[in-house]
Amino acid sequence: MSSQDIPEENLPAEQDHAHGAVTVADDTDPFADPGLPPHEHRVQDIDEQAAKRSERAVALLFTLSMLATVGFIASYVAIPHDQAVYVFPIGHINALNFALGLTLGVALFAIGAGAVHWARTLMSDVEVADERHPIEAAPEVKAKVMADFKQGAKESALGRRKLIRNTMFGALALFPLSGVMLLRDLGPLPGTKLRHTLWSKGKLLVNMNTNEPLRASDVAVGSLTFAKPEGLEEHDEDFQKEIAKAALMIVRIQPDNIKDKRELQWSHEGIVAYSKICTHVGCPISLYEQQTHHVLCPCHQSTFDLSDGARVIFGPAGHALPQLRIGVNDEGYLEALGDFEEPVGPAFWERG
Ligand code: FES
Repeated sequence: MSSQDIPEENLPAEQDHAHGAVTVADDTDPFADPGLPPHEHRVQDIDEQAAKRSERAVALLFTLSMLATVGFIASYVAIPHDQAVYVFPIGHINALNFALGLTLGVALFAIGAGAVHWARTLMSDVEVADERHPIEAAPEVKAKVMADFKQGAKESALGRRKLIRNTMFGALALFPLSGVMLLRDLGPLPGTKLRHTLWSKGKLLVNMNTNEPLRASDVAVGSLTFAKPEGLEEHDEDFQKEIAKAALMIVRIQPDNIKDKRELQWSHEGIVAYSKICTHVGCPISLYEQQTHHVLCPCHQSTFDLSDGARVIFGPAGHALPQLRIGVNDEGYLEALGDFEEPVGPAFWERG
């Protein structure tokens, strides 16, 4: 509805300050201010029923926010921190994190949506032009501020009351330490945890796509398979922490094409298992070129040669990918013959 369709007596009075001073362009001032376009009234400005409907919608959104906040608190109190929930299409995730994220998101969104709807439909939408003015304070204002400051310093007797002054400086200097203490929440320190993974002697290699233990016969020449240790499930509380260290790339290379002697010894009939975690800054590696046996990290293009001990042939990575020594058990399943012999992931973890 435009203001042209509304009976004159229903229109709200225009406000004088609605439009800035208009000047007309001429030869002396070709860039004159054209002023603001004519003001269009909204339906809520002239229809009390529509205004009431908008008011109810805003109140509903704020009420929804309140309910979501109550839900947030209830979730925090009631949901065990190790409970998992299945959410399509994400899969199994931590129920507490999901509930907190959802309720907090709804609470914030509803406040924002309510405020926007309120501003757009019920608050004044009259455009106001405000002339620019210098922002620098007048000299007499500056002089008054300086005089007040000096007067305040004198009245506080900071120079005379040395005990107060010194203890105040001590309090101000110590106070930031409380912030430093909060850094403890980043802990506990990892200790030697980064040096060890879930791999141990006899642990089966499980295909991460099918969740089935891998047989040597499942791994074809030229294929790339991702594996995790048996017993590690996606809904486990520490799944992300453990898979970030234990994820493997399994490839099969013709034994004759393996140049590195130790790599050949640690493989099973050409099947080699390497850490999937890039030694640069820890991205998961996922691109395999079967002709050259090169794997490429998508983050900064470090390239490793899997036929030559996974040494770095390009990019910023500092050293080769760690290899896991593997074999097969009596039933033909691939198994680890121990943990990695060096820390996986970025080189700086070695200092942990
Ligand atoms: S993380 Fe792999 S190249 Fe940077």
